[in-house]
Amino acid sequence: MRRDRHVIILAAGQGTRMSCRRPKALHKLAGQSLIERVLRSSITTNPVTTTVVVGHESEWVQNALAHYAGLRFIEQTAQLGTAHALQQARPFFEGIQGSLIVLSGDVPRIRRSTLTALVKKHEATGAAATILTATLSRPFGYGRVVRSNGQIINIVEEADATETQRQINEVNSGIYAFDIPPLFKALEQITEAGPKHERYLPTLVPVYLRQGLRVATVDTKTPDEIRGINSQTELAEVSSIVRKSKNEELMAAGVTIEDPLTTYIDDEVTVGPDTIIRPGVRLEGRTTVGQRCELESWVRVVDSTIEDDCIIRNCCVITESHLASGSSAGPFAHLRPGSTLEQGARVGNFVETKRSRLGQNSKANHLSYLGDATIGDNVNVGAGTITCNYDGVTKKQTVIADGVFIGSGTQLVAPVKLEQDSYVAAGSCITDDVPSGALGIARSHQQNKENWVEKKRKSG
Ligand code: UD1
Ligand code: CA
Repeated sequence: MRRDRHVIILAAGQGTRMSCRRPKALHKLAGQSLIERVLRSSITTNPVTTTVVVGHESEWVQNALAHYAGLRFIEQTAQLGTAHALQQARPFFEGIQGSLIVLSGDVPRIRRSTLTALVKKHEATGAAATILTATLSRPFGYGRVVRSNGQIINIVEEADATETQRQINEVNSGIYAFDIPPLFKALEQITEAGPKHERYLPTLVPVYLRQGLRVATVDTKTPDEIRGINSQTELAEVSSIVRKSKNEELMAAGVTIEDPLTTYIDDEVTVGPDTIIRPGVRLEGRTTVGQRCELESWVRVVDSTIEDDCIIRNCCVITESHLASGSSAGPFAHLRPGSTLEQGARVGNFVETKRSRLGQNSKANHLSYLGDATIGDNVNVGAGTITCNYDGVTKKQTVIADGVFIGSGTQLVAPVKLEQDSYVAAGSCITDDVPSGALGIARSHQQNKENWVEKKRKSG
């Protein structure tokens, strides 16, 4: 019979070496926090419960994970070491059978397949503890695995290791599977150690062996995945590894990335083949880019959909927006949340849109603000057109029907409607609806004062 599995993630530590207030577990790697990455991987083990041990800035961590249903949090008010952290969960596991998978909140790249292999081996061998280890060419900073006749007998922390032990390349990943019944009683036997007087979870190895319990190990064949993040430098290093592998995955799938070193693409982003990405592009969150697009330099796209054959020219910022196939933006366009460009629509330089839709083949090519506007097909929005959508209290709608032509320098004071095929004269301040087929003109008449310049000069 398969045993119940439970997951616990240790994330109470301050991360002193990060030298900042933000809890270590909430630092992000390619858009996702370290702890979210750990959580997502852990799902593969099908746990009955998932518990997170929080401590330093615990509310901050809990709020950041509020959208995960069914998580249990437990507080470790003083961070006295990893064994002490795990001990806080004792009340949850009183009288419970099964396996407990312990993960570190700062080991974010652990693979699902490795966790599955760890748990399977743990369950198959019937060991009381199974430790995930890795062999690193630079084991610096990790607990070293000490063996005798091939059997693990201890894990020694860097700070406590002898010169000879420091030469050991096999390290503790900080990820373990335990048989629940003997665990919590044994944790009590772990005493303070090391320069910071902490209670180390890895000390469970000699405690178990003294009790005659079996301790097994699983050595991962992909050691990069167990890299822990303890400093800003390590965060940046691991971040560049994550980024590199995402770029490589996309390039293998037919995306041209001109300069992978300056291309930042979050894990969940998808990009279709034959799309060209120029240097300095950032694609974030739940962004999708279709096929045959071109994203020129210094473009940032967040949580947006860009369909096939779109061109995003230099220096655009696009957030929570939708660009249908063949549409284009920029250079220097700002598409704020709720912007939609239908097929073939175009926004050009220094155009800002928000909660607005431009219909098929409509254009706003220069210097405009379009907010709360519904714009039909084949509309020409002249240079410098502005929707005055905000009266200081509420946002008002501007409706521009198919085929409308708006002359340059127009203000549209919402709520207002320009009906089908109407025209607006350049420089108008439109406050009333313009009927279908009509010309709306709203500007003062020009007077030319003959010889005015000469008279002024004489009088001066
Ligand atoms: C730990 C292991 C080490 C292993 C390495 C792998 C110990 C003593 N050492 O070292 O053998 O090679 O991970 O990355 O376990 N935490 C708490 N409460 C505490 C202390 C820590 O919840 O009181 C949490 C931290 O937030 C972190 C995790 O436990 O997520 C590991 O703690 P950290 O201080 O980073 O341990 P390392 O020195 O990296
Ligand atoms: Ca660590």
